[in-house]
Amino acid sequence: MARVNRFAAQRIDYTTKPLELSDLDVDPITQLSAWMSEAIDLGVPEANAMVVATVGSDGQPSTRNVLCKEITEAGVVFFTNYGSRKAIELANSPKVAATFYWLPMHRQINIRGLAKRCSDEVSNSYWESRSLGSQAASAASQQSQPLESREGYTKAVDDLALQAEAEGALERPSTWGGFEIEVDVFEFWQGGQDRMHDRFVYAKDPGAESWNIERLYP
Ligand SMILES: Cc1cc2nc3c(=O)[nH]c(=O)nc-3n(C[C@H](O)[C@H](O)[C@H](O)COP(=O)(O)O)c2cc1C
Repeated sequence: MARVNRFAAQRIDYTTKPLELSDLDVDPITQLSAWMSEAIDLGVPEANAMVVATVGSDGQPSTRNVLCKEITEAGVVFFTNYGSRKAIELANSPKVAATFYWLPMHRQINIRGLAKRCSDEVSNSYWESRSLGSQAASAASQQSQPLESREGYTKAVDDLALQAEAEGALERPSTWGGFEIEVDVFEFWQGGQDRMHDRFVYAKDPGAESWNIERLYP
């Protein structure tokens, strides 16, 4: 293996106070929501971004960032194109993992669960909150497919935007909508000094009402 670059000296020391079990809410959704709000209040750019991992039918994982647009009682919601790689992989294999990372707070949350398409009502409601420009860009995109001409795509977006302006709205295409990740495992990670990080995992026994919280070695 020929080395191209090296990052051995690249190091940030995490000096945040240790995370204790008593700092955590019994409900991981409340805890996730609290950490997300803290990140947003601190001004972390795109604090609602999360890396979502899906797996192809050949077992090959792939990842990408999406924006978490809602936290629900069951988990988190993001919106995308239902013809995209991630959506096709989720249709074949709904097991999904995602990671939030807030560098200034030295915090990470990993979640695992099952992705399900949102109802039309949920997808319509978010679609209608978007600008006509981003509606047009999404409607004209065959996300994840090869794009032969950027000009062709730009023209399709402009045409849709004009149509939307004339009609006052653009209907949500059936090829675009939300996924809700119903989370069954949450891990909250807080960076600590000298790599003495804190990790707590929430999981539920089958049929149980309450969550078990367990500390892991970092
Ligand atoms: C910070 C950030 C947020 C993004 N948010 C979304 C999103 O909410 N929905 C989406 O479909 N793509 C989003 N993207 C683009 C995706 O990362 C990705 O390129 C696209 O969804 C196609 O992914 P796929 O081919 O793996 O399906 C975002 C990219 C970044 C960097």
